[in-house]
Amino acid sequence: MGDAIDLQPVKGMRDFYPEDLRVRSWLFGLWREVARRFGYEEYDACVLEQEELYIRKAGDEITGQLYNFEDKGKRRVALRPELTPSLARMVLSRGSALPLPARWFAIPQCFRYENMQRGRKREHFQWNMDIVGLATVAAEAELMAAQVAFLRDAGMNVGTESPDIVFRVSNRQVLAHVLNKLGIEGERFAQVCVIIDKRDKIGDEALTTELAALGVGPEPTKRIIEVMAAAGHGQAGLDAITAVVGGDNPGLKQLGELLTYAEPFGFAHLIRFDLGVIRGLSYYTGTVWEVFDASGGLPRAIAGGGRYDALMELFGGKPVPMVGFGLGDVVITEILRDKRLLPPLRRIVDDVVFPMAAAQFATANRIARFLRKQGRVVLVDYSERRFKHVVERAENVEGAANLYILGGNEVASGKCTVKPLGKDAAKEYVVTLASLGAG
Ligand code: HAM
Repeated sequence: MGDAIDLQPVKGMRDFYPEDLRVRSWLFGLWREVARRFGYEEYDACVLEQEELYIRKAGDEITGQLYNFEDKGKRRVALRPELTPSLARMVLSRGSALPLPARWFAIPQCFRYENMQRGRKREHFQWNMDIVGLATVAAEAELMAAQVAFLRDAGMNVGTESPDIVFRVSNRQVLAHVLNKLGIEGERFAQVCVIIDKRDKIGDEALTTELAALGVGPEPTKRIIEVMAAAGHGQAGLDAITAVVGGDNPGLKQLGELLTYAEPFGFAHLIRFDLGVIRGLSYYTGTVWEVFDASGGLPRAIAGGGRYDALMELFGGKPVPMVGFGLGDVVITEILRDKRLLPPLRRIVDDVVFPMAAAQFATANRIARFLRKQGRVVLVDYSERRFKHVVERAENVEGAANLYILGGNEVASGKCTVKPLGKDAAKEYVVTLASLGAG
């Protein structure tokens, strides 16, 4: 005997037993259905990417969380921590052959070497929807509308009376305008964003120290903290922000437009403008947003997204307006479970065929083949166990509707007993093997 193996998956990785995968498949089904209704096409990219796609000068946290290594050909590679850079690479690679705007969605498996907490794992699946080639804020509104549609389909309350979710929305240009006035521009602005995004986690003291290391003095830091506190719902929120940043700020226009576009989609009431929302990825250039459980029960974002019009340029292409979001499976599943919104998902088996002994296996398989051709889900129980066990299992474990019983005498006389299962089941009855394609 060899040494016993460790039965746990690698730390932070996830096994999906069938009952777990049922939940995941249900979720993916909702995502695909919503994306389809909005006219998005599914794509995917490779799980293993060039490491350099994720290495940014701004010092993004994601870069420090890479599962990266050198392959046997001495290439620096990484498991993807997110899909957006791969999307940009694919779009850039197609060049002018790609008709724009393009509306694409994907459900990538992503890997980040994170500190594990509730809602944070080292491996997750992330529903992405992105629009390539649309500069209007109508694109942001459409993407948010798709998120709302999914959350509604999942059973969350997105109505006006105490909704379950809130969209916390900001705009990098609003912040950029304020910071530019403080002499913080370009690459340094992106670096500041990465630092101030961690504010909740590290606190104001560490924030001040980290900003000081970038040459941002105490006065500008105070101003940044003041601006980050500006927030409020809808138009009132926008007014509060305007009061803090000044009416001449160009980013405000986009926030105002978003509210206008959100109205006909019916989710304007879910928008809370909040300049404290930065987003940790340095490539965002415009509107950024995060979706939260309004009750604050799980203080992790359900989803995050934003406009990133400069990523293509960063990769050496011409600038192309791009905007999108990622919504992970981990946080939303926890929230739906807490709210008891996960549907009872059972394994689906229509019929179980039970040959009582090996001599009846061939007949059982003929019947199974006949029923499967009709599109039914059929299991053959080859266990040769006692009848009581077989019924128990077919009814309670498989949840089947019918049990086809094949004893030696019955097969010899060309017959089969059918026992309907479940509570309120009809009485058992006899059919000919010929009628089941096994005559
Ligand atoms: P992100 O905010 O890093 O954005 O991730 C989006 C969502 O993925 C999060 O809100 C969360 O639900 C989930 N997520 C991220 N990391 C983890 C983790 N370690 N464990 C569990 N869930 C996680 C992006 O990745 C952007 N690329 C999204 C995007 C698409 N922006 C534009 N297009």
